[in-house]
Amino acid sequence: MALSASVNPERYRTARAFCLTSAVWFGAAASFGMIGAGYLIAPDFMANIGFIHFGKTRPVHVNLVLFGFVTPGLLAAAFYYVPRLLRTDLYSEKLGVFTAVLWNITLPAAVISLGMGYTQGREYAELPWLVDILIAILFALVVFNIIMTIRQRREKILYVSVWYVSAAVVLTGLTYSLGNVIWQPSTGALLGIPDAILLWFYGHNVFGLLLTPMGLAVAYYVIPRATRSPLYSHTLSLIGFWSLIVVYTHIGTHHLLQVPVPTYLKTIAIVDSVAMVIPVMVVLINLWYTVKGKLGEIHADIGAKFVFTGTIYYFFVNIQGSMMSLPIVQRVTHFNNWVVGHAHIGVLGFAGMTALGGIYYILPKITGKPLYSKFLADLQYWLILIGITGFAIVLTIVGLIQGQAWINGETIYRVLPEIHPYYVSRAMLGVIILAGAYIGIYNVIRSLYFNSGETS
Ligand code: HEM
Ligand code: HEM
Repeated sequence: MALSASVNPERYRTARAFCLTSAVWFGAAASFGMIGAGYLIAPDFMANIGFIHFGKTRPVHVNLVLFGFVTPGLLAAAFYYVPRLLRTDLYSEKLGVFTAVLWNITLPAAVISLGMGYTQGREYAELPWLVDILIAILFALVVFNIIMTIRQRREKILYVSVWYVSAAVVLTGLTYSLGNVIWQPSTGALLGIPDAILLWFYGHNVFGLLLTPMGLAVAYYVIPRATRSPLYSHTLSLIGFWSLIVVYTHIGTHHLLQVPVPTYLKTIAIVDSVAMVIPVMVVLINLWYTVKGKLGEIHADIGAKFVFTGTIYYFFVNIQGSMMSLPIVQRVTHFNNWVVGHAHIGVLGFAGMTALGGIYYILPKITGKPLYSKFLADLQYWLILIGITGFAIVLTIVGLIQGQAWINGETIYRVLPEIHPYYVSRAMLGVIILAGAYIGIYNVIRSLYFNSGETS
């Protein structure tokens, strides 16, 4: 389908709303990350401002990057490519825009409730019951819109991106409600060890069944388009999809290797964490062979450049993840900054980069105009690439220092002076990422609403 210079303003309203949502909340999420990083350098500096105490800013930062920046960014692309791949319109743009508006009511509700101290205290499931219900409703609305779009399709083939995104939203709708124990509004938790197992089944699925398939869906769409090459292998894309669903769904217990959970669960988690190399390498071979000989096209398209870089980080985070699941490695890496490094490599390096790539790839298509500024988008790319690569290096070193020190019987507080300079470096790198996020807000808003279509 050829792109028309002028786009019907009714079309892609949902995709536009989610682009804006993602860009703005990226700025907010990174700002909270900066406050957290500042606290770790100088804990007394803002100690009397309760609302932004570390115990509050951390979950606000984490929930905003997950549900404010990355998920809406990946959804923005989905609301564009799903109808196009199915040769139809989105089932309901009105419903889509309503979903985006409700999304933007839910996120401030999350920030305010966490800031006021209403938390259920379980990582990635901190949000209080009412916000959980809103998030469950949001996923239900997205599922409905996408499934109805699939029902009215004019294209018989369901391309792999449609498989991935449908699986992601349906499964997350279910695992979010399960993991947040929404049938227990007062605590949002079960009791004892079963709660930890359920929590990490859900917690891991946020990465494995939400960010990963949605990110891969964007990569599977953008890379063949940008390189103007057919996907290297349809069979590999099917093997990659099904092996991901089979293997990724029950490795959550690798977060609990130091906890008295049943040994058989730990064994399954470890074996399948290593087996993750299958879905990961199958997907990467498929995508990278599609790019073979076409790196110039990737370089020329800023959206594809972000997405392709995301695939490289996908490789690193997964190889690292499989290693971290081995008990002998985790004895050093658990409970320290190594894991924080891994988290940023995965959620920013892979999923965040891919979300940004999806946004920049679709912006000209949904507005019918070139990006407001390709230069600013490129600048943002480099700022984020430098920031995340720096994060990965610095946090990995800090993790190794902490892990070795603790194995040698050193106490936590005696290691703190040694890691202080690294925390300062992390904050400096954070400023670079923050600058990238704010440049992105400007560029996305200009591209969407104030764009004469002439600036380069
Ligand atoms: C082969 C795939 C992967 C494996 C085997 C894996 C393994 C692990 C393990 C073992 C941990 C827990 C470490 C510990 O507590 O000591 C962990 C944490 C984490 N992983 Fe992965 N990982 C994989 C891919 C990913 C991806 C693709 C993402 C992001 C999209 C991701 C995001 C995270 C995050 C955010 C945490 C921190 C969780 C926390 O707060 O404790 N991982 N991963
Ligand atoms: C201005 C840039 C950023 C700064 C300064 C920053 C800083 C931080 C800090 C201080 C923490 C808490 C670490 C701890 O508990 O020791 C954290 C956690 C986290 N951040 Fe960021 N961050 C930034 C950007 C991002 C972005 C853009 C993403 C994802 C797209 C992200 C994803 C995460 C995740 C998933 C965690 C949880 C880590 C874990 O539980 O292991 N951060 N960040």
